[in-house]
Amino acid sequence: MKLRSIELSLPDPAAAAAFMVDIWGLVSAEVRGSTHYLRGSGVFPYLVSFQPGDEFVRSTTFVCEGDELAGLKTRVAAQGWPARPVVSQDPGGGHGIEVELPEGELLRFLEETSNTAPIAGYSKASKRVMPVKLTHVVFNSADAEASGHAVEEVLGFRVSDRTRGMVFVRCNDSHHSTAFARAGFASLNHIAFEMDDLDAVMRGIGWMRDHGFQPAWGPGRHGPGDNVYAYYIAPFGPVIEYSTAVEKVPADYRTGEPDDWTWPEHRIDQWGVSDKDFAGLRVAEERFRFRREWEPVPLAAEPA
Ligand SMILES: [Fe+2]
Repeated sequence: MKLRSIELSLPDPAAAAAFMVDIWGLVSAEVRGSTHYLRGSGVFPYLVSFQPGDEFVRSTTFVCEGDELAGLKTRVAAQGWPARPVVSQDPGGGHGIEVELPEGELLRFLEETSNTAPIAGYSKASKRVMPVKLTHVVFNSADAEASGHAVEEVLGFRVSDRTRGMVFVRCNDSHHSTAFARAGFASLNHIAFEMDDLDAVMRGIGWMRDHGFQPAWGPGRHGPGDNVYAYYIAPFGPVIEYSTAVEKVPADYRTGEPDDWTWPEHRIDQWGVSDKDFAGLRVAEERFRFRREWEPVPLAAEPA
């Protein structure tokens, strides 16, 4: 199981795509109708899509194997979560299910998707910054603890760590591919892009600075997951992150609890070199909610 992409609706997809390509570093993969698909240097056909409309999250997409999908269908149907079979009309195709979690998060699970050739050749000399893929999509939750339990039981995910602020969840050996923030409301918290290495994160920060953007938080290195981060508030609304080097964890990783993850006074990361724009981030984290535009269909009704 791998996190692949996030699908957003927003009023001006062309402007959002221009920022993400010209400044953030993604590459235009395709424009279908008025939907923009943007990719990174990795094998996924796209990482983010922007469809015109109100501001909301359409889905977050994971790609998986057939046996994983079969298990998901059985458990989702047994749990009674709103869901439907789906054939992806996005680049990479594939088929599977869309699921609405108890707080409204919309996850799509696809099998038999196709990948594309990775992009090489961008270099330090050209100053080109290019994210590889998504490394995590984090959601705000009214009850993050319940969300963590729900995705463990129904989706087969595993909680890697709990802190005072977050429940970190993995779906493979990466410490977290998603997380639920203890926010008191449900929305998109942020979208994190994987960079090749620490140097690529720092060059990304420089490239953003060249274009007048300062981090809302970072650079820094988190406790849980041990990943490097730099968070920005995108001009089109959501919080986006350059990240790298998230910890790989074994299947028997001991789930950390909040008391395992405390900081010295005045510290909220390992380095302690940057401030955090709490108020600005909070506003940005509330902008993108979830909207289910489809009617649930019993998964058992799907033709074989
Ligand atoms: Fe993050």
